[in-house]
Parts: sequence; C-alpha cells; structure tokens
Amino acid sequence: MASFPKKLIEVALPLSEINAASSREKSIRHGHPSTLHLWWARRPLAAARAVIFAQMVDDPSEYVDVLLSDPPKKRAASAEMKRRKAKDPNSSSSDQQLLEEIAAELERERLFDLIKELVKWENTNNAKLLEQANAEIWQSWRRTCAQNADHPRASELFDRNKLPAFHDPFAGGGALPLEAQRLGLEAHASDLNPVAVLINKAMIEIPPMFAGQPPVNPMSQSEQMIVPRTWSGAQGLAEDVRYYGEWMRDEAHRRIGHLYPKIEITQEMVQERPDLEPYVGQELTIIAWLWARTVKSPNPAYRDIDVPLAYTFMLSTKKGKETYVEPVINGKEYSFKVKVGVPPDLERAKRGTKLSRGANFECLLSGVPIDGDYIKQEGQAHRMGSRMMAIVAEGHRGRVYLMPEGRSENSAQETNPNWKPENSLVGKCRDQLPLYGMETFADLFTSRQLTALTTFSDLIGEAIVRIKHDAIASGREDDGQPLRDNATGATAYAQAVGLYLAFVVDKCADYWSLISSWSASRQTIRNTFGRQAIPMTWNYAEANPFCGSTGNWLAMIKWVFKCINAFPSTTRGISTQADAHSQGLSNAKIISTDPPYYDNIGYADLSDFFYVWLRPVLKSVFPELFNTLAVPKSAELVATLHRHKSKPAAEKFFMDGMTEALERLAKQSHFGYPVTVYYAYKQAETKENSGMSSTGWETFLGAVINAGFTVTGTWPMRTELSNRMVGMGTNALASSVVLVCQLRSHSAPIVTRREMLKILRAKLPKALLLLQAGNIAPVDLAQAAIGPGMKIYSRYAWSASLSEKYSGDLSGPTYRNPSNMIINGDRLTSATCINCSSGTSGDSRKIRKNPKFHIALLGRQPKKFLLACLALTVLFA
Ligand SMILES: C[S@@+](CC[C@H](N)C(=O)[O-])C[C@H]1O[C@@H](n2cnc3c(N)ncnc32)[C@H](O)[C@@H]1O
Repeated sequence: MASFPKKLIEVALPLSEINAASSREKSIRHGHPSTLHLWWARRPLAAARAVIFAQMVDDPSEYVDVLLSDPPKKRAASAEMKRRKAKDPNSSSSDQQLLEEIAAELERERLFDLIKELVKWENTNNAKLLEQANAEIWQSWRRTCAQNADHPRASELFDRNKLPAFHDPFAGGGALPLEAQRLGLEAHASDLNPVAVLINKAMIEIPPMFAGQPPVNPMSQSEQMIVPRTWSGAQGLAEDVRYYGEWMRDEAHRRIGHLYPKIEITQEMVQERPDLEPYVGQELTIIAWLWARTVKSPNPAYRDIDVPLAYTFMLSTKKGKETYVEPVINGKEYSFKVKVGVPPDLERAKRGTKLSRGANFECLLSGVPIDGDYIKQEGQAHRMGSRMMAIVAEGHRGRVYLMPEGRSENSAQETNPNWKPENSLVGKCRDQLPLYGMETFADLFTSRQLTALTTFSDLIGEAIVRIKHDAIASGREDDGQPLRDNATGATAYAQAVGLYLAFVVDKCADYWSLISSWSASRQTIRNTFGRQAIPMTWNYAEANPFCGSTGNWLAMIKWVFKCINAFPSTTRGISTQADAHSQGLSNAKIISTDPPYYDNIGYADLSDFFYVWLRPVLKSVFPELFNTLAVPKSAELVATLHRHKSKPAAEKFFMDGMTEALERLAKQSHFGYPVTVYYAYKQAETKENSGMSSTGWETFLGAVINAGFTVTGTWPMRTELSNRMVGMGTNALASSVVLVCQLRSHSAPIVTRREMLKILRAKLPKALLLLQAGNIAPVDLAQAAIGPGMKIYSRYAWSASLSEKYSGDLSGPTYRNPSNMIINGDRLTSATCINCSSGTSGDSRKIRKNPKFHIALLGRQPKKFLLACLALTVLFA
C-alpha cells in the first residue's frame, strides 16, 4: 500500500514573508528574467521558489519520531511543553500528544526560517542556502522512498538516488521551471507558444549545456592567455553575448549610423535658451526624437494643415527640471519651441491639444474640436501623419531638450527598410489600432525603426557565422550538429548565442515602436507593452539605438548579459513545445503550474509582436518552432470572444480544455506529491470582500474538480502590482491563489447537494477558525476561506466527474438498482437528459426507463452549486 507523507504546503506557509518578497521583486531589474524577454504576468521567483520547496518537503508532523529521537530537539520540545502546561494546566492533550505537536511546530518554524531566507532576492544565487534547501528536499524524498520500498513500481518511482523531475505544462515566462532547477530538480518546461518555448530554452535549457565553458571571442581568448580565469555557470556564454552584441552595434553603426545624426548646439540656439551656453559648438548625441501624430484640421479654413494630436506638451515634469513644448502659431503655420521652467499655463501644457478622455482633441490653429470618429476616419484613409515636437539629447548631467531641426526630421524619412513584418494584427492586438488604419505589425514602426530592426536582425546571421568560426579557433569541437539536437559543439554554440542576440532585437522592438512614448516624469522611453495589449498612442518617442541612454542597443545587451550570468545553469533543463491538452511530459514528475486565466491575457495574439522578428532570424535554427507564419492560436486555452464567437462557447472551450489539461496532470503527475496550480485574478475580480466571485474563477475551480482533483490547501498570494508596491499590511487583496491539489480517491464518498450543504455547514466554522488562527492577513481572509470550503467540497465525488466517463446509453443490464445505481463501481445520484435538458436529479428510475437519458451533469448545475458553496464559505468567513 503506497504511503505518502503530507507536504508542508498542505499544512502551513510563511505567507507574509513570501508575499513581501514577491511584491518587492517587481521593482528589481538587474538579472531578473523579466529583463531577458518580455512575457506577460510572470510569477515572481520568490513565490515560485517557496511553493515548489514547500511542495517537496514533508510536513514535520510526518516525522515526529525522528525529531524526538534527536536529543536537542527533544529537549527544546520538552521545555516548551513545560512552559505551556504551566500556562494551561487543564489542557486536555496527553503529554505525549503535546510533545509531538510541539516538536512538529518547532521543526516547522525551522523550515519557515529557511523559506524566509530563501525567498529574498539577495539570496537568489546563495549557493549555501540553496544547498541547504536541496538537502531538505532530499531528506523528504528519501523518507518517501523508504516508506514505499515495496511499492510494485518502486525502482521506477521511488529511486532514493534520483529526485523526481519537475514539469510545468504552462511554462510561459519560465519562473516556475527556473526555480525548480535552482532547487536542484531536473526542470521540464512546455508551452504551446513558440516564443515561451524559446524563453524557457534560454533560461533553463541552454545555460547548463554550456556551463563552465570559457567564452570563444578573440578578446576573451587573448585575455585568457595573459590572466587565466575560470568561468562558472553560464558566465562564458554571457560574455560572448556581450562581445558579439557590441560587434553588432559597431557594424550596424557603420551601416545605418547616418540615420541618427548628432545635433550641434549653435550660438543662435543660446539666444533663446541661455541654459544651452555650456554646449555651444558641441555635437550632442540624440537620445530620442519626440513626435506627435497629426491629422488634417477638420476646420475648412485649415483643411490642408496637418495639426498635432498631442496628449501632452510636457517633456520633463521633474521638480526643478520642468521643460515643455510651446507651440508658436503664425497664420496657417506653426512650429514648436522648447522652453525650460514651469509653463505659465501648466494645465494647458499638461494636456497638449487633448480635450477630454479618449480620442478627443482640438485643432491647434483654430481651436475646433477634433472628435474620435474624425480621427479614425482620417487614420483609416491613411491620412494620419506625424510632426516632430522636440529632441532629447545627452547633456553633461542629464537630458537636454531641444526644438526640432530640419536635419533630424529629414533623416527620419530618408530610409527604406529591406523587409517589414506584414503579418496582420489579430485578436488582442486589434483592440484599438485598426480603428486608426494600422492593420499589420509593419504599421507599428517608422521606416527608420524598421531599418534599424532589420539591420540588427540581419547581423545576427552574420554573428552566428563569426561565432562558429571563433569557437573552432578557440578549440571547440566542430561536429556540425545543431542546437535543436542538443549538441554542444561549435555550430550549436554559435546558434545559442544567436538566440540571445535575437532576444535583444525583440527587446529593442518593444522600445523602438510607434507605441513607445516619452515619460516626462521618468524622462525615459516607455515600452510598447506597458500593459497586456497594444494601445494607441498619440505622442511617440523614436529611440536612437546608438546613444548611451534609454532604449539603446547596448543597454539591451547589458540586460540580457546580466540575466544569463544569473541563471542557475546547474541541473538539466528541457523546454518543449506541447499542447497542455495532449501532453505526455508530466509522467511521474512534480507539477507546479500557472495556467492561463480565463480571458485575461491573449498570449498568442500579443506574442506575434515578437514572433515576427524572431522568425526570420531563428527559423533555420528551430524549424519546428517556426513552421507557421504566426503563433499558433486555436488550441490556446483562453476564453476569448473573438475566437469562439459567443460567451458560452468561449466559456465551454476554456472549461473543457482546462479540465482536459488538468486531468492529464492528475493522471500523470508523481502521485507522492501534490500538484500546485496558480490562479491569478484580473483587478476587476478582486473587489475587496467580494469573495472573488467571477466567471473565470468559478470556471477554473470547476475544471480543477472535474479533472479529478481534491483541493487540499489554498494560499492567497499578493504577487501582482497595479500602480504601486503592495506592502505588507496595506489593504490590498491577494492577486492570485495557489491551489494545492491531490488526486481524488476512487473511494471518495458521493453526496447529494443537500448532503453537501449540510456537511459544509457542519465543518466550515471549525475549518475557518483554524484558518483565522493561522498567519493570514485579515484582508485576505475572504479569499483564503475558499480553501477550507474547497477542501471539504472537493473531497466528495461529484456526479460532474462521472458525466464525461459515463455519458452514453444507460439502458442495459448494468443499471438495475433504481435507488443505488452502480456504474463501473461508482454510484450514480442524478442525471440530465442531454436531448431535452430535463433534470432527473436523483430519480434513477426515470434514467433507467428512458434509454435516452445520459449522464450529462458537466454543464450548468455543478457550477451553480459550486457558486452556492463559495457563497456559503464567504458567509461563514
Ligand atoms: C499564465 S501564463 C504562465 C506564466 C508563467 N508562469 C510565468 O511565470 O511567466 C500561461 C501560459 O499558458 C500557455 N498556454 C495557453 N494555452 C496553452 C495550451 N493549450 N497548451 C500549453 N500552453 C498553453 C500560454 O502560452 C502562457 O504562456
């Protein structure tokens, strides 16, 4: 008989410390995977690390005998027992019971202390601490193996010398597999989306393949001859990405540097701007050209004039450094001056030519309103243009804002890219842009931006050839085998470096688009994906790839360099493209996963933005990942209206697909461990004290239960940021929940709705009291209360889980007993006719008599019931 110790995550977690570390992580950039490549709604590493660790280690109540056989531990427990008994002499527990409880508590505290250290960002690569965590995981594993030594599949499933591997079938930005790898597990990541698969390759697969190897570039090679050094982890790989990235920059500058002229500060400029005096005669490097989109004025008197749609005239709002654009009107003409200081009419300068929310502006020349419909009409007729408003240049100590000049405006126009991404915008990317005539990804970039991106992309191919040559020269083996075959020779290495360089192009695309705008408060360029959509922007900032400030190529190289350096690169990692509906990779693995959240993020639609740039560069390296023109969409598990046409169809697709995907996890995962599943809320779903009732959440919970899981714990996590850091003690709700799930037992009792409500009423108050005694912040209580509720609810077999298995003709000899129908060993309690939808609830005689009745409970009723249970839970809380 298999025996599995309860895991720490099923009992307790130091939640506040995990939440605080997770929230803090959002403001950390250097070396964080979020700076390797953008992915939407990444889980914080701190939460991922803590959850996987607590999922892998036993709860101390499982090994009190071991604890009490350790003299110092026993002494500590006895002392604490004496203290408690003195305080409460009438305690009903026996001495032995109390001693065991205390020993477990003290041990839990020790594990908590370890987790509290483990989640700190500073300790991400603290080898000593990670070793300690890994040793705890091994100890628990060996205990499990010992307990299951006589299991029929012991040699396969309980090998005391080999930890089970980890798998995340919705790996996305890779936080969970990365943390599993950091904790010493072999990490498998899969995702439907090729961009996510590549991100995971870059994070967990490639670094260990080349770990410990020195860089191959000639400069490092000659330095190595003079001062030999060792290269640990992926440092050598990182160094080559930096070197060849710099080579690309120099080469690109040779080819297209003329498109980014410097600006000379003349005496004439100083007359109007005395602050420019220190720069006279100098040529300043431009950081960005700031543009406003234009349309023809709707005022017939100015019909031939392109007027600006400027959502602000402020360039810098930094206290003491305020700078703004002042339009100068001269009859039918206008120009922009840049002024330093607080504008006399601050409100006007702040709002530019905008009148109100949305696309409502005024004509700069005549004051006539320009409404949204008119702008859309102009956009769709391709009459939308742009006008430069200002230039930002690199000063001695900070930014210098200058008025536009002819040379700058011309160089922006005088280029023709040799390629552009003609893919149509689809789904989430179409929310706003097509309304203004932007239909393809090429429309999101200026000619100069397209030229820069294609130049850098083309250079990656050349860099790969160069790297291979240098690798061979440095003594690497040249087996000619590609990276996709897990080779590690010169060819594969060159391709690996090429992959990171392609990510740098993607990072640049995010900052070098028409959607990127200038942040006057931070004085930096905002990226395209400030949120999980592509919004229309009215002012945009065109970055200079060759400057030394915000948005330049070398800065992007540096971000990627730092990330590679920080990857654990220890145990093996494998990243594969697989559909979670049908994947077979989870077999006997530890599962922690973060599936898509109903209709929250259209990953496949959004990631086309990056795919179109990656494909030309990497399709020869990973042909299978790039065999479609765009990211595959139809199997993506999101409840999107645009793909499924109606709300019920979208909900059904999500419910069925998620159930199937979770069922695969329930069946395949290593049965000695619980499965942990994240669910994150949209902001709108987390109204305070709402109990988080929403279609997405209910559908998701329904899928978890229908997949055959029992929820054995739920942990509210405050892992998302809206506009500010969510600190401990603030009145902000948890933004995601981690469900701890176990496969429901075959012998789970079957109950009716009435019975279930009775059970909930009887058991919930005690379960909630226990919860309140735990370390849950009061504000999180309503959400956390779902846990005990679900724990009770999901312990029972629901007809819902029978429905799929047994839908079919029910006439026949098996279904004899009308009051207690047994089908393949399960008792049937109710059914619905799938033809006429009439309920039979419990009347199995009717079912038996009518061969058309099928068991089809999967749909509405269980969900309604689940809702009732949730409501009841919240009520009790
Ligand atoms: C919430 S994200 C995972 C985020 C990840 N945990 C992180 O930290 O970045 C969900 C992922 O599920 C993937 N996905 C959606 N449908 C899928 C399917 N049918 N099979 C596999 N992956 C799918 C999406 O591409 C997305 O990357």
